[in-house]
Amino acid sequence: MIAGIGIDLVEIARIERIATRWGDAFHRRVFTLREIDACSERARPAIHFAARFAVKEALLKSLGLGLGMGVRLHEIETVNERDGRPTLLLHANALWILERRGIGRTHLTITHTKDHAMAVVVLEADGRRPRGPELDADPYE
Ligand SMILES: CC(C)(COP(=O)(O)OP(=O)(O)OC[C@H]1O[C@@H](n2cnc3c(N)ncnc32)[C@H](O)[C@@H]1OP(=O)(O)O)[C@@H](O)C(=O)NCCC(=O)NCCS
Repeated sequence: MIAGIGIDLVEIARIERIATRWGDAFHRRVFTLREIDACSERARPAIHFAARFAVKEALLKSLGLGLGMGVRLHEIETVNERDGRPTLLLHANALWILERRGIGRTHLTITHTKDHAMAVVVLEADGRRPRGPELDADPYE
């Protein structure tokens, strides 16, 4: 069962402006070390940082959450498979919320041009009951 869908479009120049202004502090605040390493070795890192930023916002949308609503951006990580396919790796609160909602699979696709990067996330519930002792305690629902 589809449990959520989210989309986001990011202007690459905006990410470049923020990175120029704030430098590594921006990257370390928003991205995981693995994302920083993976993007930094690409020809134009800002394209891939922008795409991963779009992934983070798309995932929040798929959950019906916004920035500052309990999930930190670096808890939402994009990892590329050997063939380049992007997958989501969630940590901490982001992972807890998915488990709490019984979401067993996530689907992610990314595209970019020289100006924009876009990501779409689909959440799939696996039918099992949400787990964890805090069954009534999800403040994000
Ligand atoms: C997937 C593919 C069609 C993307 O085409 P494109 O129009 O050049 O690129 P887009 O801007 O639309 O999308 C780029 C994103 O596609 C995703 N992507 C890459 N390979 C992918 C694949 N095999 N399946 C799904 N998504 C893929 C990545 O997330 C990439 O962004 P990122 O590098 O920032 O993570 C192209 O890369 C392809 O044909 N790949 C086939 C697999 C392949 O050749 N692998 C060789 C590397 S081992």
